[in-house]
Amino acid sequence: MHTNSATNLTFTDYHPVPADFYEEIVAGLNQTPKRIAPKFFYDARGSQLFEAICDLPEYYPTRIEKKILMDHVDAISKAMGPHCCIIEPGSGSSDKVRLLLDAVNPRGYMPLEISKHHLLAAMDRLTQDFPWLDVHAVCIDFTGDLTVPDHQDDAHRVAFFPGSSIGNFEPVDAMRFLRDLRAVVGDDGGLLIGVDLKKDEATLNAAYNDAAGVTADFNKNLLVRINAELDGDFDLEMFRHWAFYNADAGRIEMHLVSECAQAVRIGAHTFSFSEGETIHTENSYKYTVREFQDLARATGFRPVETWTDTNDLFSLQYFAAA
Ligand code: TRP
Repeated sequence: MHTNSATNLTFTDYHPVPADFYEEIVAGLNQTPKRIAPKFFYDARGSQLFEAICDLPEYYPTRIEKKILMDHVDAISKAMGPHCCIIEPGSGSSDKVRLLLDAVNPRGYMPLEISKHHLLAAMDRLTQDFPWLDVHAVCIDFTGDLTVPDHQDDAHRVAFFPGSSIGNFEPVDAMRFLRDLRAVVGDDGGLLIGVDLKKDEATLNAAYNDAAGVTADFNKNLLVRINAELDGDFDLEMFRHWAFYNADAGRIEMHLVSECAQAVRIGAHTFSFSEGETIHTENSYKYTVREFQDLARATGFRPVETWTDTNDLFSLQYFAAA
């Protein structure tokens, strides 16, 4: 048995209230157009499928963001400054931050994660691989009231938000969230954020319509979950994955399309679908570097430096508090 370096790991549990799956599904399917919130993608199978998406040849964002992080780690750590505290909302497995730790050598790392199980498992691995790192794990729903403990408040704070997760917010909600982050990092803080870029539609469409059908399985997993957990009777053969770039809105939309006119029962509720009617399950907004800088400026951040790949597919952007 190895000694677990428990001394450099502390934990705050804000006891995030889990969403009521049944209530939210029924409410979303009673709306016109019908919708399901993307947070319900991530049960155990959904999380596995999402990891598989990140390894797909068509899904460039994860691969390219990692390459940008590795290629520019020295410039990135210079921008972040010495002895910062890295705060990562939605840290999940905390894989990407590993690419920064040796170069940045932060005073502390504060992952914010809604799943206590994933958080503690990831921190167990992280503190073993980076025994020098001071970790303060926080179990919280970062889309709710965003407060973090006063851990190491002498170190300046840098928020790290990779994966273009910001694109999954509506732009007004993205602004609200960036304002929350700005308040959390304070007047001497910063923000390192991964933002997927606008580009030719074929590349965008391929990324969300992989040939192996993993993204389709990920999308349809919502229906699998409803059937299993909420006593639903969705016929999986009668719904199809549909993702496309909506150029006017500047976003990829993901939907589940009803292949025929049909009624679906969930518990005591029945929902009718016309042929071709969809359930809207996700948006992924794409920005130009300039568009995203303008959005961030409006929330109290000042653009400092942007790193992109040679094909301008993806950007990693550093902002200082303005
Ligand atoms: N935020 C990433 C994106 O929008 C990852 C992601 C979220 C995703 N939901 C997804 C990728 C659904 C594929 C399908 O690209």
